[in-house]
Amino acid sequence: MKKIAVCGKGGVGKTTFTSLLAWCLAEQGREIYAIDADVNPTLAEALGFPPEVVKEIRPIIDMTDLIEERTGAKSGEYGSYFKTNPSVKDIPEKFSRNIKNIHFLMMGAMRGADQGCACAENAMLRALVTHLILREKETVIMDMVAGTEHMGRGTAKGVDAMFLVVEPGTRSIKAAREIGKMAGDLGIQNKYVIGNKIRSPGDEAFLKKEIGDMVLAGFLPLNEEVLTAERQSRSLYESSAEMRGIIQKIVQDLKI
Ligand SMILES: Nc1ncnc2c1ncn2[C@@H]1O[C@H](COP(=O)(O)OP(=O)(O)O)[C@@H](O)[C@H]1O
Ligand SMILES: [Mg+2]
Repeated sequence: MKKIAVCGKGGVGKTTFTSLLAWCLAEQGREIYAIDADVNPTLAEALGFPPEVVKEIRPIIDMTDLIEERTGAKSGEYGSYFKTNPSVKDIPEKFSRNIKNIHFLMMGAMRGADQGCACAENAMLRALVTHLILREKETVIMDMVAGTEHMGRGTAKGVDAMFLVVEPGTRSIKAAREIGKMAGDLGIQNKYVIGNKIRSPGDEAFLKKEIGDMVLAGFLPLNEEVLTAERQSRSLYESSAEMRGIIQKIVQDLKI
């Protein structure tokens, strides 16, 4: 699997899971693009970039000059003309930061996509996601917000797997079900649930029951090593043998 989306309700552990998966696949020698498409971008920290580097990274969606140059529109100007298919093929190389063979790109989240906002920024992000998904060489892992708003039907077909991260509560499961349904409607076939912040066998049983016919890929424990890694600005994959073992097994079982 080469094109992977990670979705779910805010705070469930999407970024934590994305960082583990990115490091695990990178360790196999694969070239990874790790994309942060969340409104609260924290993937750079989670991957283990030092704070002074993180501070300098700006999301593509805020690069108004670049967006203007590529789309022909003044960013944010409602109703003005802009290109819906801007050229983006140089952007991954130009704007990514690397740790080993992980190329990190802070893309940002779509603006007002739920209200159907068709602004130049969104056109830019959509073009970028499409480009990344259609590129053959690299493995792309996208840490997303709730849904599939970065994708059109054609693009979604190129997504090999969507991970829906949930925690053992009803709200995140409801969100996962809704996102999973949208993704299915768009043509994303493989959807896997990751149960995060598991405290007990009871949590596992609860999740198994609640997710119904969605496919369970694995459980990650509620683990204080997550916070320790954050405080030390280290990647969780590097600092937790337990988490490393779990993600390696998931990767192996699903043949990611
Ligand atoms: N398995 C876990 N054990 C302990 N804390 C966790 C775990 N997973 C996530 N967290 C914590 O929960 C918070 C949200 O996680 P994050 O991965 O940023 O979620 P999301 O990207 O879905 O918003 C973070 O502060 C993180 O440290
Ligand atoms: Mg996040």
